[in-house]
Amino acid sequence: MRDKYCGYIGLEDVGKDVLLAGWVFRRRDHGGLVFIDLRDITGVVQIVFSPDISKDAHEMAGDIKQEYVIQIKGRVEKRPVGTENENIPTGLVEVLVKDLVILNTSKALPFQLDDEDEPNETIKLKYRYLDMRRPSVQKIFITRSKAYKAVRDYLVSQGFYEFETPMLTKSTPEGARDFIVPSRINPGTFYALPQSPQLFKQILMIGGFDKYFQIVRCFRDEDLRADRQPEFTQIDMEMSFVDVEDVIKVSEGLIKEIYKTVKGDTLNGSFIRMTYDEAIETYGTDKPDLRFSLPIIDITDIFKNTDFGVIKKAIEKKGVVKSIVLKGKNLSRKDLDTSVDVAKQIGSEGLIWIRKDKDGLQSPVVKYFKEDEKLAIIERLDVKEDDVIFMMTGNRKKVNELMGRFRLYLGERFDLIDKNQFKFLWVTDFPLFEYSEEQKRYVACHHPFTASKTNIKQFDGDYETLKSKAYDLVLNGVEIGGGSIRIHKKDEQMEMFKLLNIKEEEAQEKFGFLLEALEMGAPPHGGIAFGFDRILMMLIGSDSIRDVIPFPKTQKGVCLLTDAPSRVSQKQLSELKIRVIYEKQ
Ligand code: AMO
Repeated sequence: MRDKYCGYIGLEDVGKDVLLAGWVFRRRDHGGLVFIDLRDITGVVQIVFSPDISKDAHEMAGDIKQEYVIQIKGRVEKRPVGTENENIPTGLVEVLVKDLVILNTSKALPFQLDDEDEPNETIKLKYRYLDMRRPSVQKIFITRSKAYKAVRDYLVSQGFYEFETPMLTKSTPEGARDFIVPSRINPGTFYALPQSPQLFKQILMIGGFDKYFQIVRCFRDEDLRADRQPEFTQIDMEMSFVDVEDVIKVSEGLIKEIYKTVKGDTLNGSFIRMTYDEAIETYGTDKPDLRFSLPIIDITDIFKNTDFGVIKKAIEKKGVVKSIVLKGKNLSRKDLDTSVDVAKQIGSEGLIWIRKDKDGLQSPVVKYFKEDEKLAIIERLDVKEDDVIFMMTGNRKKVNELMGRFRLYLGERFDLIDKNQFKFLWVTDFPLFEYSEEQKRYVACHHPFTASKTNIKQFDGDYETLKSKAYDLVLNGVEIGGGSIRIHKKDEQMEMFKLLNIKEEEAQEKFGFLLEALEMGAPPHGGIAFGFDRILMMLIGSDSIRDVIPFPKTQKGVCLLTDAPSRVSQKQLSELKIRVIYEKQ
């Protein structure tokens, strides 16, 4: 239906006839001529209907409206001097139309496709097919398509094989709730949609495939956030005979390829590394945003003999004093009061601020500090005039977390974040276990198949001290990937289940196939999974994961295009032997 794409017409085509097909983007009527910007996947070109070229086509053009689908034949000409458009690649030429075929009409649109006219998200997702016609949206999904190819090309070049794993499967514990699917053939039983292919990829290693990858859909029934979807895509990888460094090396190569594809730019050097403990102690989070500095500094020791009640009490209870110095901002009293309010909003019982001016440290609380404490603070924190020190005291874990959140507030509020930077960071040496307040017990910090850094058979009862061979890749404060070296021996895996309070029977019932496989020559192995959508979202600079997913769900898990989820017919339910209890709305 065409012999050329709109966006590729240029000076080299002048004098030639072309056959084009596409959408009517914009139209203008001028001095008896009709000008249309004809758009296809490659861009737009100006086409001109003149009664001098074709009376019929010119007459028909009178009926053409926005988003009509048309096919035209015409001659490419240089635009008259002074009418060129430097802003588009085809701006030096236009096509004088000889023949016009209207392939389809269009109703008036619910929103305009011009980029300046961004529709609200509900409308955008309901009419995703229109939203997608906007060049800026098309660009995102074309980039996504190119990124798949970059991933495949790179991993295949590194000796990885691509496999698919089941979508109808058994629940694997990854922490979130499963989406479940009833089985008609086995009434009363359910499949779970995979939260990740974790166990299958381990089985592929035991099957001898050496290196596996898959660009795979995963499903998790969890509360949605700007960077979370109930179904999302992972770049899932697993490798045999590897340790942490091998996984990190191949992962950095992969991320650099994706970066190059999306940004058209090269990332040089190795990514920054930090242990989990360093991240928590210095940035108050396991996913630090390193686009700005503002480290959290422990100054507990300065106050070991303090008379200042709040700090004294905290230290007596084995608590800490942690500080952040905001350099050279000369904050007003109002700014300082707001900071205290913010600290309270994020859950802190209090925030101490100290400002340095020409007369020394100023704060409602410095009168309680000893002279040597003041001197030590100035020296340790290198405090200069116009700097402000913020301090929190109390339980170490809580203070770290609150200071981490407060640090992010300061970063945003005082414009310290360079939004053009991409700060990749490996966080390593995660704890093996973490305490779940919800379940009132220790759970696996990554997942129960993660290997310990030390022999868990010599476990001495202190869950907090064990470190794992797990690692996360963080970009600008967002976790974009995570993985670990796995347990590859049955006795260690059983030990792990035991420490997690998973009974032998339950372990057999849930993971019997894995346990048996681990007994038949399972090689040492490990891997990682990257959040493909999250990576794209971060690299294109969007703050919503929905921008990079063609058909995303809303915050309430609804697909606005199809209206899923929806009720099913009584017949379908009867076949599944399912009775639904509808609660009154
Ligand atoms: P994990 O659970 O850390 O690891 O997931 C890997 C990465 O997937 C992304 N991600 C999500 N993206 C969008 N929406 C979600 N709801 C969502 N949940 C996770 C994150 C995350 O870093 N099987 C292990 C990997 C392994 O051990 O190899 C796993 O799934 O970017």
